[in-house]
Amino acid sequence: MPRTIIEPFRIKSVEPIRVTSRAERLRLLEAARLNVFRLDAEDVLLDFLTDSGTGAMSARQWAAMMQGDESYAGARSFHRFEAAVRDLTGYPHVIPTHQGRAAERILFSVATRPGDVVPSNTHFDTTRANLEYDGVEPVDLVIPEGLAPRNRHPFKGNIDLGRVERLLADRGDKVPFGMITLTNNSGGGQPVSLENLRAYRELLRRHGKPLVIDACRFAENAMFVKLREPGQGNRTVKEIAQETFSLADGCTMSAKKDGLANIGGFIALRDARWVEAARNLLILTEGFPTYGGLAGRDLEAIAVGLEEVLDEDYLRYRLRTAEYLGEKLLAAGVAIVEPTGGHAVYLDARDFLPHLPREQYPAWALVNALYLEGGIRGVEIGSVMFGKRLDDGTETFHALELVRLAFPRRVYTQSHFDYAAEVILEAKAKAAEVRGVRLVKQSRHLRHFTAELEWA
Ligand code: F0G
Repeated sequence: MPRTIIEPFRIKSVEPIRVTSRAERLRLLEAARLNVFRLDAEDVLLDFLTDSGTGAMSARQWAAMMQGDESYAGARSFHRFEAAVRDLTGYPHVIPTHQGRAAERILFSVATRPGDVVPSNTHFDTTRANLEYDGVEPVDLVIPEGLAPRNRHPFKGNIDLGRVERLLADRGDKVPFGMITLTNNSGGGQPVSLENLRAYRELLRRHGKPLVIDACRFAENAMFVKLREPGQGNRTVKEIAQETFSLADGCTMSAKKDGLANIGGFIALRDARWVEAARNLLILTEGFPTYGGLAGRDLEAIAVGLEEVLDEDYLRYRLRTAEYLGEKLLAAGVAIVEPTGGHAVYLDARDFLPHLPREQYPAWALVNALYLEGGIRGVEIGSVMFGKRLDDGTETFHALELVRLAFPRRVYTQSHFDYAAEVILEAKAKAAEVRGVRLVKQSRHLRHFTAELEWA
């Protein structure tokens, strides 16, 4: 039997991408203040900035969109969407939002108070920022293996139960609920095992605390469980996903990831406690409870996407993509987060650029280098994203300096990944020439999106 895991689809519609020269890219990057978020997408060849909302929809999804019911209230499309979310999660209360961070903002506004503390394996940047905006302290309690880029633990997204227990013992009265991110995006797209999830749920339950899943990549997580967790290999990914949700009390979701849609999200909850307040806030800022900031056609696309994403041939190909690029890089001595996660490959910038001090933001510098070398756009997961300039002018730095190359779903082919590997190796050969950067302008929240930088 052939061993190549192929793209399990054929291409019906294509979109050209444009090759640029190195001189052109240098000019474009400098005009973008050395911040690839400020580049025009047309000036990027392979866009690995994010896997969020960038996927290709299927013919079935496009067909469903034509059936979108655009009624303001009670649209048929809402009921299809609601049925798909209920079937997957088992949660009766389904609240659509325009994307994941809207779900977070609404849930956190109604379920937390200033001074609260919310544990997770690792809060993603929008989750962290939305909690902080409400005066809540997000704490990251991933297992130590999750912070060691070369450690090949199969479930590096697991939460450290001992540290959760201590948090609950010390400050339990301040914990409104526990969270967990599936897969653990900021920690390398690493999965959480069912065993860890069960134990976390049990611990929270003993303290009377609900569990909320950040479910963006639930299908990729479930596939990892099937492939890696003892005793799970014979179950369907759908059964594993359903059990995952059954262990929690609710979720926030960005349908731009494992919803296989270009926009959308939701909150889904098991009991009614937060539902009325959340719907009221939804009406104020997103829209009526049966559309929540989305068009009827978006709800249709998500309903189909939530089903298609559980296709095991798709998921096998999906996880293989990151593994394939990872193998090529490791063979050439490039340090990455191992094992590769579900949606991305993470390069270890401190290893790649040992001559750059952390004050010169090595991961940011590597993002720039990959763009200059081959028109590839990645994202820094390091100290520009997670560090801070305090009011007294001092800087805090993130423990890891990573560059995430995140893969849009069903968009790029194997030759694109071969090209990406060549570009990265070329950059590695010239690593000593890569220049550091310094921040010259930044905003208070999520500064990486808009920051302006100069060569250090
Ligand atoms: N939670 C996680 C784990 C995420 O990865 C994201 C988005 C969100 C929440 C917020 O969802 O974008 O729909 O508002 N992650 C994207 C990324 C932006 O590139 O990883 P959103």
